[in-house]
Amino acid sequence: MKLSYHGHSILQIQTNGKTILIDPFITGNSLTDLKAEELSVDAIILTHGHNDHVGDTVAIAKKNDALVIANADLTTFLSWQGVKTHGMNIGGAYQFEFGKVKLTQAFHGSGYATENNEIVYCGMPTGILFSSEGKTIYHAGDTGLFSDMKLIGERHEIDVAFLPIGDNFTMGPEDAAYAATLLQAKTVVPIHYNTFPPIKQDPYQFIELLEAKNGKVMNPGDVLEI
Ligand code: NI
Ligand code: MN
Repeated sequence: MKLSYHGHSILQIQTNGKTILIDPFITGNSLTDLKAEELSVDAIILTHGHNDHVGDTVAIAKKNDALVIANADLTTFLSWQGVKTHGMNIGGAYQFEFGKVKLTQAFHGSGYATENNEIVYCGMPTGILFSSEGKTIYHAGDTGLFSDMKLIGERHEIDVAFLPIGDNFTMGPEDAAYAATLLQAKTVVPIHYNTFPPIKQDPYQFIELLEAKNGKVMNPGDVLEI
């Protein structure tokens, strides 16, 4: 399984000949190295309805005829915009042809802000467990620290955990380091920082805080093979 990080919360997974994108916030993301119109994608998985996660999903999904996977309220909203969807919810797993997706809880919001200054309710925010080729990754989405991360770590052998460290909207570095201890992941990668002024962080300071010294800073475009 080939993983690449593309700024903010964007993760690209290549496995079983397919390409999957998580949270493709490209337009307006000054940190990303991706161009939405150049992407070739089979599926998109979303953690929640906030605009900095849904991002370019509709345009990319339509262009590629890609399947959009997320909590069922968010997929209902996106299906009305003409994209192919698969709705799930927290605690449920589904085996897709490219890998297994399980949604976990996350403590956050999930409203989508429209151009008409309305907030559309997009269900509960989630984290994502993705398993393929005998490996499992955990993308925590946007969340505060919660003690059931210990349960997630006990129930799944996590090879790589992608944890938000930006603070303000999500866990900050200290709480994310504690989360890493609860999750017992083999490798921990910080995400959701430096995109906007309130979430400015030094990812190298974060990995110093990790008890297991198992942190890896990925810059936009960096690849991790597991
Ligand atoms: Ni959010
Ligand atoms: Mn966010």
